Amino acid sequence: MGNCLFSSTRVDSTQSPQPTSASGGSRISSKTSRSSAPSSLTLPSFSDTSSSNGCLPTPRTEGEILASPNLKPFSFNELKNATRNFRPDSLLGEGGFGYVFKGWIDEHTLAAARPGSGMVIAVKKLKPEGFQGHKEWLTEVDYLGQLHHPNLVKLIGYCSEGENRLLVYEFMPKGSLENHLFRRGPQPLSWAVRLKVAIGSARGLSFLHDLKSQVIYRDFKASNILLDAEFNAKLSDFGLAKAGPTGDRTHVSTQVMGTQGYAAPEYVATGRLTAKSDVYSFGVVLLELLSGQRAVDKTKVGVERSLVDWAKPYLGDKRKLFRIMDTKLGGQYPQKGAFTAATLALQCLNSEAKLRPRMSEVLAALEQLEAPKTASKHSQAEQHAVPLPVRRSPMRHHRSPMHLTPSASPLPSHRQSPRVH
Ligand SMILES: Nc1ncnc2c1ncn2[C@@H]1O[C@H](COP(=O)(O)OP(=O)(O)OP(=O)(O)O)[C@@H](O)[C@H]1O
Ligand SMILES: [Mg+2]
Repeated sequence: MGNCLFSSTRVDSTQSPQPTSASGGSRISSKTSRSSAPSSLTLPSFSDTSSSNGCLPTPRTEGEILASPNLKPFSFNELKNATRNFRPDSLLGEGGFGYVFKGWIDEHTLAAARPGSGMVIAVKKLKPEGFQGHKEWLTEVDYLGQLHHPNLVKLIGYCSEGENRLLVYEFMPKGSLENHLFRRGPQPLSWAVRLKVAIGSARGLSFLHDLKSQVIYRDFKASNILLDAEFNAKLSDFGLAKAGPTGDRTHVSTQVMGTQGYAAPEYVATGRLTAKSDVYSFGVVLLELLSGQRAVDKTKVGVERSLVDWAKPYLGDKRKLFRIMDTKLGGQYPQKGAFTAATLALQCLNSEAKLRPRMSEVLAALEQLEAPKTASKHSQAEQHAVPLPVRRSPMRHHRSPMHLTPSASPLPSHRQSPRVH
């Protein structure tokens, strides 16, 4: 990987091979790193991975991480064969760290298979990025080699050969949430699917936060939420994941990493990371699900550029909420449910981190929202009662101050007291 300078601001997905205009977020990092790839990095370890009782982190060497019994070490040649020599027509997408290709392996031996036969995989091939790229690759191998949950993407193996660093994942047939929300082409997601995605990803985050050795994900965003054939959401990209504070500590101090528009303001300002930073990012994605608008829209100017700044004033007002709702929903959503979700987003986006709910609370509130649908079925009248939203133009709308009445809160009131981790 050589001695590469890792730039302080990296734009990662603007060069996506898929048609996109204002796509992607700028990744942020607070400092530069000039080191060459070290032969032995040490990262935290979680020995109990099948339950939510992860043990205390003990740093592991690179050798220990790569020796994970859950992961297959692939040779570069095997992955070349599995992806038909990384053919451009096998390209699934591009991110800040490299290209993702579709491939095939034998489901029993995991050896490269003929295209169309065996098991489909997604192979991420990292661009040579120097130390930072290697470090994030290794962090991902470390976490996903140990943590298993239905809402985390499954890492099948990796390749580390010479300068080459690759990751082999289960293939997620519906791609990323980002593709569905913001790209032209796929059928717009229905309200029910949006709720399902919010619940699945909240489950993934909640699992990480509730581990005995808490894990802070740090890169929660629409492009990192992958969807299986039934729209079950799985979190991918653990390169920035970080062990949460231990003992009496309230936060971990880190170099600021993440993606503009999703990262919590206090984390960006101070480098102090807590699980509540993930809760903020969840609030941003919830807003994206409601509005169908990107966290940062580079084609817009002023307040419209930032989804949070633009949408916040509408979230606590039942009568104005429809103005920010995704027009692609065609008004087909329950008004009450949308307002509850919007109120929840507002709570997640609280500028005071301590006042944000925990992910387990967010999850419970979202599950409640889904529950009545199956129990009593929303009345058709309610589904159609929502006025069709007009094209967003906040400048022309009167912006009211944010009101968050206790009755509007989707969380039980006793759970909303400030908490320090
Ligand atoms: N396991 C997978 N199955 C199917 N498609 C995938 C899989 N992993 C990634 N992709 C596709 O590849 C795209 C690029 O993913 P990648 O994680 O490299 O970048 P990103 O999430 O867009 O940006 P960033 O580098 O900031 O995380 C995704 O948006 C998705 O469409
Ligand atoms: Mg990603």
